[in-house]
Amino acid sequence: MQNKISVHDILHRKNSEKITCLTAYTFPVAKIIDNFCDIILVGDSLGMCIYGHADTVDVTVDMMINHGRAVMKAAKKSLVVVDIPCGSFEKSAEQAYETAQKIIDETGCDAVKIETSRESIAAIKMMVENDIAVMAHVGLLPQQVRQLGGYKYQGRDEKSADEIIEIAQLATAAGAFACVIEAVPARLADRITQAIKIPTIGIGASANCDGQVLVIDDLIGLNQEFKPRFVKNYTTIASDIKQAVQGFVEDVKNKKFPAAENLVE
Ligand code: KIV
Repeated sequence: MQNKISVHDILHRKNSEKITCLTAYTFPVAKIIDNFCDIILVGDSLGMCIYGHADTVDVTVDMMINHGRAVMKAAKKSLVVVDIPCGSFEKSAEQAYETAQKIIDETGCDAVKIETSRESIAAIKMMVENDIAVMAHVGLLPQQVRQLGGYKYQGRDEKSADEIIEIAQLATAAGAFACVIEAVPARLADRITQAIKIPTIGIGASANCDGQVLVIDDLIGLNQEFKPRFVKNYTTIASDIKQAVQGFVEDVKNKKFPAAENLVE
């Protein structure tokens, strides 16, 4: 079996072999991904993917811990990063640190991810000073979707592009080991990737980022109603599930299931 991937390994992938990252929220999915990807992200996208919420805003620390634990049971090789959810870190650096420490203590995960604005830089610094590995996240911050009025590409004008670059640089200086860049023009993602010394991991960003992340449900085509430009369905599992369910219903109605081989005399 391959060795467990460390934060140090990820740092060394800057300008080198591309980093692969997928979200997982459950044991069986994490078990599959663990064989292939460098990083498993227990993203707060579980609010939509698992709980049917409209966005990530109401995801709780307990939800993140429960799913973080399930994923940690399966992940033997990948670096596991758990999102710090909305409402659990914004008050102060101390609050962010306490939440991050609770997530790490209760899941055993390797690192946390925080949606990063100027206001969260002190939190990153405090977490890193206390030996917590932190992944930053710039560009579109989904936890702010209600203030933004939707999932919109960020950094499209010069002023906001410069601001995003500066936040990524501040996060790097504060000690983050990697930085997710979400939904920005490719040219801006390239500028960020060149401007910071830690690896960048893009989603709706640029092929020149040091790695790429996707939400697993989007990769496997589980939700056919959601298909932003940056998503690629590598399969359409929703059709397979539909076919299987129809097969079951038909068999039960026609008394073909359970069959003799499914039963004991
Ligand atoms: O919650 C999540 O899945 C994420 C990724 C989209 C990067 O933050």
